[in-house]
Amino acid sequence: MGAPPDCKLCPLSHYRTHVVNGRIVGTTNQPPLLIVGESPGAAEDAQGKPFVGPTGAFLAQELKARGITDYALTNAMRCFPGENKKESEMAAGVVACNPYLLEDIDEIAPKVILALGVYAVRALGFNDPMATILCHTLQGPKDTTVVVSYHPAFFFREPGGLHLFDLAVLKVRLLLDGIPYGREWPPQLLTLEEFKKCVM
Ligand code: URA
Repeated sequence: MGAPPDCKLCPLSHYRTHVVNGRIVGTTNQPPLLIVGESPGAAEDAQGKPFVGPTGAFLAQELKARGITDYALTNAMRCFPGENKKESEMAAGVVACNPYLLEDIDEIAPKVILALGVYAVRALGFNDPMATILCHTLQGPKDTTVVVSYHPAFFFREPGGLHLFDLAVLKVRLLLDGIPYGREWPPQLLTLEEFKKCVM
């Protein structure tokens, strides 16, 4: 399903080459994790598939490092928004594409959604400022739990913030494993000796 290839519902259709619907990575048609990004980039627009450029490579690497290999990828908007993104057009894109996002959630029935960036967060129905919900787990649409992260583009600009992405992925991992964060996973305090072994 997904948005039709000739969709003209919003102004983003002027910029795109291909409509970019979701795709699945791994071995199952209904993976327990759905990742919602912002919009296709130039590589995605050229190939008609989400997360096939540098952002997709970054995601695959970070998720694999935490043992997550089965997931679905989609976006809040299905069209490349052009090189000079306009906020009003992006907002229109999120609204126009919302039925397709809900359709993805219905079809995949994920347990956990990782929302990448403010447009993904808004598309999932949250209006909170990003800083107040970053790395939080929220009750999402259709019985899902949403984990909030900045978009990977932020971490490309600010690599010093990468631990925030790792924290979000760790929370996803715990939720996928059915471990309620904060209860069965007590903080592990290292002794000074253990810490020295880690850093030396
Ligand atoms: N960034 C996104 O948010 N989505 C993509 O599909 C590619 C890059």
